[in-house]
Amino acid sequence: MRKPYIAGNWKMNMAPSEGRAFASALLDAVKESGADVKMMVAPPFVTIPAVLEVLKDSPIIVAAQNMADHDKGAYTGEVSPLFLLDLGVNTVILGHSERRQYYGETNESINRKILLALSHSMDVVYCIGETLEERESGKLEEVLSAQLEVGLKDVKSEDMKHITIAYEPVWAIGTGKTATPEDAESAHEFIRKTVQSLFSKDIAENLIIQYGGSVKANNVKALMAKENIDGALVGGASLSVADFLPILTFDK
Ligand code: 13P
Repeated sequence: MRKPYIAGNWKMNMAPSEGRAFASALLDAVKESGADVKMMVAPPFVTIPAVLEVLKDSPIIVAAQNMADHDKGAYTGEVSPLFLLDLGVNTVILGHSERRQYYGETNESINRKILLALSHSMDVVYCIGETLEERESGKLEEVLSAQLEVGLKDVKSEDMKHITIAYEPVWAIGTGKTATPEDAESAHEFIRKTVQSLFSKDIAENLIIQYGGSVKANNVKALMAKENIDGALVGGASLSVADFLPILTFDK
């Protein structure tokens, strides 16, 4: 049984004071709602401590949106996984398409980060997904295969319990264009099959695969009804309690 996993990626939104107030309002709303999915929010680095003041020991996991590919040293502007662990943050989103598009991250560099995170027993939400051009030129499966094969290279089978995959078609992010539940399901099915061939049937069956890209209260149910869609990675709609709570309670 795969427990639904719903996450909010705040991206570059919410200064520390805003994040603290928002987390407090979200926690109150979540407590009243009886939401029982696995929940996570990923604030910007500098907002994490303020959010942790509120969400530490709560059912809402606090994650980072990225991390360095080294533990320490002369890497100006980077944030070490050890600093996250020191704060009490044990979950990190890696490989987001905005990191790939704007900051030059590649399957190879993301693989280094994944292996480093796993060496510290951190949980990873690994984002993959195709651009519109790749989809339209028939390269969907080729792109997803490479992202999985290279991104998860040298990951040990026993560490796969720390990995969640987020399928985020780039053309659906922040555009209001959600993949149809059928399109999303077929990509998720392909991802699960690929993970089965790279690892094992058991690992593939237990793998949580989130969908991300314009998830809203009005489309989450249809997406979550699909067999291979186990959760959501939500951007814009995770920034307001009124929008995010119905997503967290989609099954109520
Ligand atoms: P939107 O929900 O704003 O489309 O963002 C999706 C996303 O990129 C989450 O990581």
